Amino acid sequence: MATERKAVFLFFGGTGDLAYRKLYPSLFNLYRKGNLRSHFAVIGTSRAKMDDDKFRAAIKKSLADSGNRTDSKEASDFVSHFYYQDHDVTDTAHYAVLKELMDKLDKKYKAEGHRIFYLSMAPQFFGTIAQDLKTQGLLSEGKDVFNRLVIEKPFGRDYDSAKLLNDALSKSFDEDQIFRIDHYLGKEMIQNIEALRFGNTLVESLWNNRYIDNIQVTLSEKLGVEERASYYDNSGALRDMVQNHIMQIVSLLAMEQPVAFTDTDIRAEKVKALRSLRVYNVADAATNFVRGQYGSINEQADYRHEDNVPHDSTTETFVAGKLLFDNYRWSGTPFYIRTGKMLADKFTRVDVVFKRPLVDIFAFPQSQNTPLAANVLTIFVEPHAGFSLQLNAKTNDTGFSTEPIKLDYLVDAQKSKDTPEPYERLLHDVLKGDGTNFSSWPEVSYAWKFVDQIRRVWDLQEPQFPNYTPHSMGPAAAEELIQRDHREWVYRLNN
Ligand code: NDP
Ligand code: BG6
Repeated sequence: MATERKAVFLFFGGTGDLAYRKLYPSLFNLYRKGNLRSHFAVIGTSRAKMDDDKFRAAIKKSLADSGNRTDSKEASDFVSHFYYQDHDVTDTAHYAVLKELMDKLDKKYKAEGHRIFYLSMAPQFFGTIAQDLKTQGLLSEGKDVFNRLVIEKPFGRDYDSAKLLNDALSKSFDEDQIFRIDHYLGKEMIQNIEALRFGNTLVESLWNNRYIDNIQVTLSEKLGVEERASYYDNSGALRDMVQNHIMQIVSLLAMEQPVAFTDTDIRAEKVKALRSLRVYNVADAATNFVRGQYGSINEQADYRHEDNVPHDSTTETFVAGKLLFDNYRWSGTPFYIRTGKMLADKFTRVDVVFKRPLVDIFAFPQSQNTPLAANVLTIFVEPHAGFSLQLNAKTNDTGFSTEPIKLDYLVDAQKSKDTPEPYERLLHDVLKGDGTNFSSWPEVSYAWKFVDQIRRVWDLQEPQFPNYTPHSMGPAAAEELIQRDHREWVYRLNN
C-alpha cells in the first residue's frame, strides 16, 4: 500500500524540455501508485504567458508523449492539481506572487506547509533563486513542515564555481534540504550495486584487491550531441559524464560497508572512498587519462560540423581513464572508466575482473588447454538489466580441457517495463526526504577536485582531434591506456 505524501511543488523552468519529458510524467506515475493523491499541487513557472487551462493541456500532452492514456478521469484529476504562474526569476519583487499562490494552494489542498522547489533551468540562476526563495518568504515555517530544494545538473563547472554555488545555496537551505540530482543514482541497477555487494557474502568477501584485478565502468552512447550542442561544447565528456555519473558509480563500487542502510551512513562511506581517490599530479594525469572527439563517416558529420559547434572546437566527446584508490581495500586494483558520444552502441555496464588462479593446474605442458580465463562479474545497467558471472568449467567432451561459461540473470521484459524511471524514484525520494540517491556536497567537491586536475593538464595542450571513428569504441589511445597495463577492455566490439 503506497503512502500518500503531501506537498506543494514549485517548478522553475516549468515549461522546459526536462519538465515536460521527464518530471511531469514521473509525478503522474507517483499519482497512479497513490504516493500523491489529494494533498498536492504543482505550480509551473517560466517567463511565458499562459493560463492554467493551457498549462494543463500541455501537461496532458506531456503525459501522452510519454505513452500514457490521457482520456481517463485519473489523468484529468491529476492535471487539475496543476497551476501556472509566469515569473522571471531575475525579478525579485515578483516572488511575492509565487508566495501568495503557494500559500493559497497549500491551504486548498491541505499540504500542511510541505514545499518542494525544483530548479529545472539554466544553472546560472540556481543561487539567486535559492536566495530569493528565502528572502521573499516562500519557505514555510513550523515545527513539522519541510522545505526541500531540488537542483538539476550541472553543479558548477569546476571546484571553485561549484563551491560558490554551494555557498549561495547554503545561505538559504541546510545540506539535508538540498537534493542534487544525478539521474544515474535513480537507475535500478545502480541501486542494485549495494544489494549485490552487501547482500551476498560470496561477492563482498571477494570485493577487494586480493581477488579483484581491475574494475571497468563503461557508459557508452550511440548518439552525438543532438540539439544540446551549445551546452555540451562548453562542458565536454569529462564534466558532463565523468565528474557526476561515473564518479558516483565508482564511489558505490569502492565504498566500505555502511554502518546502516541510511542516507547519512551511505554518504559517509562514499565520501571516504572519494577521499582516498588519488588526485593525479601533472605527469600522471597526462598518462592516465585520454580524450577523443569523433570524426565523420558516410552521412554522419564530424563533431566540429554538428549544428552549433565551432569548427575549431577542442571539446572532448570521449574520455577514458584509470582511477586509483590509495586505501587498504583497493591499493593496486585500478578502476578503468570510459564514456563517449557516437560510439558503437548505447549501453552502461560494469565489469569486475577477478584475478586468475595463482596456479593453473590444467596447463601442464602436454595439454592443448588454453589458459584459464579470468572470472568476470558484469553488472548490466542498461539497456538490459541483470548480472552475468563468467566462470571456468570443463568442456563436455573426452580428455580434459576448460572453457569459460556464463551464469546469467537478466531481468525479464515485463519486470523491466514495470521498473520505475529514475526521475520517478528520485521525486519519490525527495517526497520522503531520503537523500541516499542524491549527491552530497562533499561528494561533489571531491569529484570536482579530481576532475579539475585532469582538465588543467588537458588545457595546456592542443589535442589532435578528431581521433575516433563514429560507431567505434573510441580512439586508439583508449586501447593503449589499458594495454599498457597488460589488460584489455572486457567489452570490445564484436565480442
Ligand atoms: P530548457 O531550456 O528546455 O528549459 C528552460 C526553462 O527555463 C524554460 O521553462 C524557460 O522558459 C525557463 N526560463 C529561462 N529563463 C528564465 C527566466 N529568466 N525566468 C524564468 N524562467 C526562465 O532546459 P531543460 O529543461 O533542458 O533543462 C533544465 C535543467 O535540467 C538544466 O539545468 C539542464 O542542465 C538540466 N538537465 C536537462 C536534461 C534534459 O534532458 N533536458 C538532462 C539532464 C539535465 P522561458 O524561456 O519561457 O522563460
Ligand atoms: C546526461 C548528460 O546527464 O546524461 C547527457 O548530460 C547524456 O549528455 C545523458 O546523454 C545520458 O543519460 P542516460 O540515462 O541516457 O544514459
